[in-house]
Amino acid sequence: MVHVLGARPNFVKAAPVIAALRAAGAEQAVIHTGQHYDARMSEVFFDELGLPEPDVNLGVGSGGHAEQTAALMIGLEGEFTSRSPALVIVYGDVNSTIAAALVAAKLHIPVAHVEAGLRSFDMTMPEEVNRRVTDQLSALCLVTSPEGIGHLAAEGVPVSRAHLVGNPMIDTLLANLDSFDTARVRAAHRLPERYVLATMHRPANVDAPETASALVRHLHGVADLADLVIPVHPRGRANLLAAGLDGHDGVHILDPLGYIDFIAAVRGAAAVVTDSGGLQEETTILGVPCLTVRPNTERPITITQGTNRLVTFEELVPAVRKALESGAPAGDRRPPLWDGHAGPRIAEVIMEYLSE
Ligand code: UD1
Repeated sequence: MVHVLGARPNFVKAAPVIAALRAAGAEQAVIHTGQHYDARMSEVFFDELGLPEPDVNLGVGSGGHAEQTAALMIGLEGEFTSRSPALVIVYGDVNSTIAAALVAAKLHIPVAHVEAGLRSFDMTMPEEVNRRVTDQLSALCLVTSPEGIGHLAAEGVPVSRAHLVGNPMIDTLLANLDSFDTARVRAAHRLPERYVLATMHRPANVDAPETASALVRHLHGVADLADLVIPVHPRGRANLLAAGLDGHDGVHILDPLGYIDFIAAVRGAAAVVTDSGGLQEETTILGVPCLTVRPNTERPITITQGTNRLVTFEELVPAVRKALESGAPAGDRRPPLWDGHAGPRIAEVIMEYLSE
């Protein structure tokens, strides 16, 4: 079997799955597509998460959606043809995910999709297109959250393909809990004692200069309340800086952080402001209030059971003020099966499927 990994969040989800399949004696190869290629977006994750060195790196890199997806498909077709894997395992909702699923399906190689069934119902998000198509093409839909089973059924995916297995991103979080040392990360990156941590990289928030400018105005409003620490994703960096993100004394701009430092910084934050997917889940488990600057989320369980809240630009500053005053909502914040054992459950489903 081969794992196809391309972008930062893929690495975090794959680590426990690869480890559990190794323990089950599976023969595995890792194809890195090279969608993310900066050392801080890729290498550091392989090192910290104990991922095996990729068997091959396709070096696809960046580009428009058509250009990038086409290059991914061409590279993957060559690899799948020469390796003839019994199964292709794909993760999440990035362009590498849909490209691998499409190529495998046309070569009649079954696909297992880890993190199947999530839906934002917003087809303007590239990730929603990637999720829907990948699930249609997958022989195994490995679902993180109960509502995902219903979404798949509503789209005609046979129920026999869908398996609720829990959340492997949370496996990685729980496995590394002792390493998230907030005092160390504060000292290493000269972070203030009390801060709000922000990450922003969605095309809808950072690609248009006017939107990026409006966002920066509201982020400065947050920085009026508390110091704002913002590790900046390469996407949007230029627009956010051109809009004057660094023009406020309370704003601390960092380069992208490795996994351990990043989650340690999240753990020590008074609140998080984000448009990321995975961070909505990680803050839920860490009990840090999360304000998600998006009109919708494919992870609604982080709102009903977690610490997450969706906000518009205008709602952001009042929502952060409230979070700073009251902290995270009380209650059980752990969705079903987000227990650190998703990797072994996924390995079991896969091994059983391959033995049939
Ligand atoms: C991708 C995913 C997104 C995910 C994010 C996590 C898709 C459609 N989107 O978005 O769902 O949340 O990864 O990080 O797959 N760049 C670099 N160095 C890198 C990678 C990217 O400089 O190592 C810059 C390039 O300018 C590039 C831009 O970031 O054009 C966007 O990269 P891309 O891979 O297209 O998508 P992301 O925005 O990273």
